Amino acid sequence: MLARARPAAYACAMATVEEPSGAAHGPQYQTIEVKPCTPVIGAEIRGVDLTRPLSDAQWSEIHDAFLRHSVIFFRDQQRMSPEQQITFGRRFGELHIHPAAPHLEGYPEVFVIHAHKDSKFANGESWHSDVSCDVEPPLGSILQIHVLPPCGGDTLFSSMYAAYDDLSPRMRTFLEGLTAVHESEHFYRGRYADRGVNDAGKVYPSAAHPVIRTHPETGKRCVFVNRTFTTRIEGLPEDESRAILQFLFQHVETPWYQTRFTWRQNDVAMWDNRCAQHMAIWDYWPNERKGHRVTVKGERPIFRA
Ligand code: SIN
Repeated sequence: MLARARPAAYACAMATVEEPSGAAHGPQYQTIEVKPCTPVIGAEIRGVDLTRPLSDAQWSEIHDAFLRHSVIFFRDQQRMSPEQQITFGRRFGELHIHPAAPHLEGYPEVFVIHAHKDSKFANGESWHSDVSCDVEPPLGSILQIHVLPPCGGDTLFSSMYAAYDDLSPRMRTFLEGLTAVHESEHFYRGRYADRGVNDAGKVYPSAAHPVIRTHPETGKRCVFVNRTFTTRIEGLPEDESRAILQFLFQHVETPWYQTRFTWRQNDVAMWDNRCAQHMAIWDYWPNERKGHRVTVKGERPIFRA
């Protein structure tokens, strides 16, 4: 039997982005501290206050760390106002408006993440890439948690670069060039009724995207299907599509592609939806967890042969 060459996945993350300083062992950041969480995904950032305007040098290093680590965690933050969070998000691009969720009053770009004793669900409980059902799914999401339960409420992140790199060459060849349908009707219809959303007559997004996509900034390939939104692979019979998707859904959840973030109050996480999936663990009921998310618009996923 062919064994998985696990170290190949580990090598991928470190070799992705040009070293800004040409350093041999990772970049030397000048304006921030960056501490990787695992070799494949995640890094903690210190030495920057997101409530203050960023210099171009700070932004450029944050952007580099974001591309290199796929999810970055800002510790020791103060609570950002909606305007400050929107301003930070806009450094990365135009902001996305969620197609289903209610927003913070007066701020259509701010998605309120909130679970409490009367909630019927918590956002992001199953593995996903945010709103991958959009024709142009979001580039990234920036979440600050303001209210934390006494324990629990962690978020898991999984590297879709590592998931791709760990596939056998034959499986990669099979998947490359296939497209999959991402839908949201089954997921969003009626979901926010208890928060006052009446979605009668609303059409929820769906789109077809490459199963393996090329990241538009790093040029690396990653798996782009998830169990929340992806419903079938085009051009395959129903049973084959189901079996391949089932395999991929389990594969992308492999623990050694992951990092797990334990939040402290006002921590900020920014994840790259193009190359990472995440899952928020609702293990803290009946306690409350609350925060604000802004989401940056992305572009149509492509596969570059
Ligand atoms: C989400 O945006 O999917 C929720 C993430 C979280 O609450 O940690």
